Amino acid sequence: MSDPQTTGDKAFYVTTPIYYVNDAPHIGHAYTTVAGDVLTRWHRQRSERVWFLTGTDEHGQKVLRSAEANGAEPQQWVDRLVSEAWLPVLDLLEVANDDFIRTTEERHARRVQSFLQHLYDKGEIYKGSYTGPYCVGCEEFKLPGDLVAGEDGQQLCPIHSRPVESVSETNWFFRLSAYTQPLLDHYREHPEGVEPASARNEVLSFIESGLTDLSISRSSFTWGIPIPWDTSQVTYVWFDALLNYATAVGYGEDDPALTQQFDSTWPADVHLVGKDILRFHAVIWPAMLMAAGLPLPGKVFAHGWLLVGGEKMSKSKLTGIAPSQITDHFGADAFRYYFLSAIPFGHDGSFSWEHMSAVYTSELANGLGNLASRVAAMVGKYFDATLPSASAAGDAEAALASTLATAVAQADEAIVDLRFHDGLAQVRAFVEAVNRYVTEQEPWKVAKDESQRDRLATILYAAADSLRALAVLYAPVMPTTAQRIWELLGAEPALGPLTDQRVQDAGRWGVLPPGCTVTKGDALFPRLEDADGAAAKA
Ligand code: MSP
Repeated sequence: MSDPQTTGDKAFYVTTPIYYVNDAPHIGHAYTTVAGDVLTRWHRQRSERVWFLTGTDEHGQKVLRSAEANGAEPQQWVDRLVSEAWLPVLDLLEVANDDFIRTTEERHARRVQSFLQHLYDKGEIYKGSYTGPYCVGCEEFKLPGDLVAGEDGQQLCPIHSRPVESVSETNWFFRLSAYTQPLLDHYREHPEGVEPASARNEVLSFIESGLTDLSISRSSFTWGIPIPWDTSQVTYVWFDALLNYATAVGYGEDDPALTQQFDSTWPADVHLVGKDILRFHAVIWPAMLMAAGLPLPGKVFAHGWLLVGGEKMSKSKLTGIAPSQITDHFGADAFRYYFLSAIPFGHDGSFSWEHMSAVYTSELANGLGNLASRVAAMVGKYFDATLPSASAAGDAEAALASTLATAVAQADEAIVDLRFHDGLAQVRAFVEAVNRYVTEQEPWKVAKDESQRDRLATILYAAADSLRALAVLYAPVMPTTAQRIWELLGAEPALGPLTDQRVQDAGRWGVLPPGCTVTKGDALFPRLEDADGAAAKA
C-alpha cells in the first residue's frame, strides 16, 4: 500500500464519506470531515503533497423522498441544501478541502457510466431478479439476520429503528460473490487495510460468511444515474456514491490532464468512514475496484459515533445538534480540538455541553490561552515587547527542550497513525510542562533583581520559543488560534508563514529569532458566557 513518505509524486489522498442531502448536517457529519481536515493539514504541515476530498451523495430514494416531503423537485432540493447548509458548514469549521464532489455533477455521472460499461463489457454484471428487505435510511438491501423485531412484530432496521420495505425487482447484478476469496487474501496480506482491529474483525467475519451478488440498479424510480446499456434502470445509490472517490480525481477520462491527475492521486491512502458504513467501503468498494483492475485503497478507517442518550446522534431521531450551535458558543477551533482530543478515534463518544465546557476552560482557556497571554504580557512589560535572547540556559531549559522533542516525535507518530487523541495528549502535556516551567521559574520575581536580567531573558525566551512550537503543532487542529499565536510572537517576518513550518522541525529548540516583536492581543479563548442557557459553567 502507498506510504506517503515514499510514493514520490503521489499525493497523500484522504476522503470523507459523501453525505446524504436529505437534511442539513449535524455534528456527527462534521466530526468525520474535521478528522479528515486535521489529518490532511497535519500531512501538509509535514510538506507532503495532499489531496482532501469531501462532497455530497444526492441520488437514491432517501434524498428523493425528502425532496418530495418538502414539495420540491429533487435537483432543486439538493442544490438548495448543498449551497445553504453543506458548503457553509465547511467554512464554519475551517475545512480546507481540495475538492467537493456532488454526485449530480455531470463529471461524476459520465465517469460512473464509463465504469459501469467497463464492468459490463468484462462480464462482471448480469441481469437477475431481487426480492428482499430494503432500508431506505441505509439505502441497503438487508439480510434477514440483519433485522430486529419491532414491538408490533414488524421487521426493523437496527440502525434507523424503522420498518424495512420489501423490494421485488428485475435488476442488474454485480458478481460480488466472486470476490470473497480475493478480498480475504487481500486483507490477509494487508491487515492495515481496515482499522481499527475491531472493524477488521467485523469485515473479515462478514466476508468469511460468504458474499452474495449485489443488485446495482433500481427500476422503480428515476432519480439516479441511468445504466448506460439499459436506461430503464438507474444505478443503485451506493454503487454511484462509492465511485465518487475515483470520479473526483479524474477516473474514466482520456484527457491527459485528468489521466495525470488520476495517476498522481489514486489510490486513496485513507477513506474515513463511520462504522455504520464500513461494509460498503471495506467489502463492496474494493471488490468493485478489483473487478475494474484498479489499485485498492491503503486504508479504510471506521470511527465511532457521537452518541446522545447512548444512541447514535441522528436527525431522523431528532437528536442532531447543528455544528453552529457549538461554534456559536465555543468557536470553530474549540470544536475541532474537542472532538478529536476528547474521543479516541475509532470509539463512540457521548457529547455533553458540560464536558465540552470543562475541557474548554481547563485545557484551552486556562492552559494554552493563559500561557500565551502571560508570556506576551511579560515580554511586553520587561523587554519592551522585543523578544530577548537566551544567554543563561540551565537544566530547566534543557529539560523543556527535551520534553518538546519527545512530544513532537510522539504526536507526529500518533496523528499519522490516526490516533488524534494520543497525539493531542502529547501536545497538551507539553503545554502543561511550559506552564509549570513558567510557574516554577517565577520570572516576575526574577524581574525584581536587576542583576538577573540574563536569567529573566532566558526564561521568557524559552517560553516564547515553546509557543512557537505549539503554534506549529496546533496549526492543523486550531488553524485560527495557531495563526494568532504566530502573530502574537511576531514570528512571520523572520520565519515566514506558519503553514511553511514543518512538523518535523517543530521539536528543534531555539528557532524563534530574538528581536521579534511580541504583542499581547485579546485572549485566545475568552471566558464562556452563559449563552442561551445552553452551557458553559466557566
Ligand atoms: N451517503 C452515505 C455515504 C456514502 S460514501 C460513498 C452516508 N451518508 S450519511 O450522511 O448518512 O453519513 C455520512 C457519514 O456521517 C457516515 O460516516 C456516518 O457514520 C457519519 N455520521 C452520521 N451520524 C453520525 C454520528 N452520530 N456520529 C458520528 N458519525 C456519524 O452514509
